Amino acid sequence: MSKLLVTGGAGFIGSNFVRLALTRTRHEVVVFDALTYAGNLENLAGLENDPRYAFVKGDIRDAAAVRAVFEAQRPTHVVHFAAESHVDRSVMDATAFVQTNVVGTQVLLDAGRACGVERFLHVSTDEVYGSLGPTGRFTEDSPLMPNSPYSASKTGSDLLVRAAFHTHGMNAIVTRCSNNYGPYQFPEKLIPLMIANALENKPLPVYGDGKNVRDWIHVQDHCEALLVVLAGGRAGEVYNIGGDSERENLQVVRRILALANRGEDLIRYVTDRPGHDRRYAIDSSRMRDELGWRPSIRFEDGLAATFRWYVENRDWWERVRSGAYRDYYERWYGARR
Ligand code: NAD
Ligand code: DAU
Repeated sequence: MSKLLVTGGAGFIGSNFVRLALTRTRHEVVVFDALTYAGNLENLAGLENDPRYAFVKGDIRDAAAVRAVFEAQRPTHVVHFAAESHVDRSVMDATAFVQTNVVGTQVLLDAGRACGVERFLHVSTDEVYGSLGPTGRFTEDSPLMPNSPYSASKTGSDLLVRAAFHTHGMNAIVTRCSNNYGPYQFPEKLIPLMIANALENKPLPVYGDGKNVRDWIHVQDHCEALLVVLAGGRAGEVYNIGGDSERENLQVVRRILALANRGEDLIRYVTDRPGHDRRYAIDSSRMRDELGWRPSIRFEDGLAATFRWYVENRDWWERVRSGAYRDYYERWYGARR
């Protein structure tokens, strides 16, 4: 039986992955998470009594803490989600992005190598490829051309993982996924932010002309893909994971307004995000041809289910939207009126 060390397991994708791994596999799971503003033990509620699950609070930038968790838990595999993940915050201040995404990833690679882990799965993003024009899709051979401090820091981490494979022969794999949505996503990202604002009858801030395109994938499809790569991916390889669901931001926002039974008068066009990538689209044919994976959730179905989740879990997002989040919201959106 394998033991997974899941970094960032208290965040959005990590917590969905932990639940899926405990349900679908016999792996043991140890979550290692610093519980930043984006990490929340409520995302893992209900798992406390599962004998195959453990939580360790710790920071991937802290080499001693990382070494200690490897020595105490002896994981066989690392699934590395922990990161600063929000582009807008990286525009305001990139420091934590470099520290966690770049330095933290190297700390983990070093500890994983010293402890002889069998496999290191690095969860990355399509944003490392930069921005597309109106046609074409990113393949694993597309050039790395990140445009935001967030995506530049993720690119740095991808390259450190690549180096660990080539230099040290580490069994390391990188996955690059498109935009996720689903339960437990922090309401700073487009879909949960628009749902929460619509439910509270607040303005929906749309950047620029609202015609930027993202390739949406339900978090469950992403997590299933990660289990497939963990089990059958080739060491040293990169795998693109996409949802085959390109939508303009305005299409997504209008659909949410319809689900919430609200009018388009709630839409506010605000100053664009600096360096805003125009379009992402992922070619996941390597995942399909080599590993037999393909996304299964239709965007409109997944969005409706996600909307229902936010309606039914209002306490969760009202709590995470209080406190420090309010200061962030005022600082970022206050400057874009
Ligand atoms: P998230 O912001 O919801 O969660 C990040 C988690 O990492 C939190 O639990 C946080 O507490 C933890 N964390 C942050 N800094 C840490 C540190 N220094 N030490 C330990 N833990 C720390 O992020 P997410 O949206 O779930 O994304 C997870 C991963 O997937 C990231 O690496 C991100 O780059 C990647 N990714 C995200 C998307 C997306 O659409 N959200 C798409 C592709 C790839
Ligand atoms: O593509 C994968 C990436 O997707 C991940 O690597 C990132 O971690 C994740 O945050 C996400 O990045 P994006 O910048 O694409 O996601 P975000 O939800 O911030 O924005 C989606 C689109 O919506 C983008 O074109 C910007 C726009 N937007 C976003 C916000 C928060 C708005 O128009 N208004 C907003 O208030």
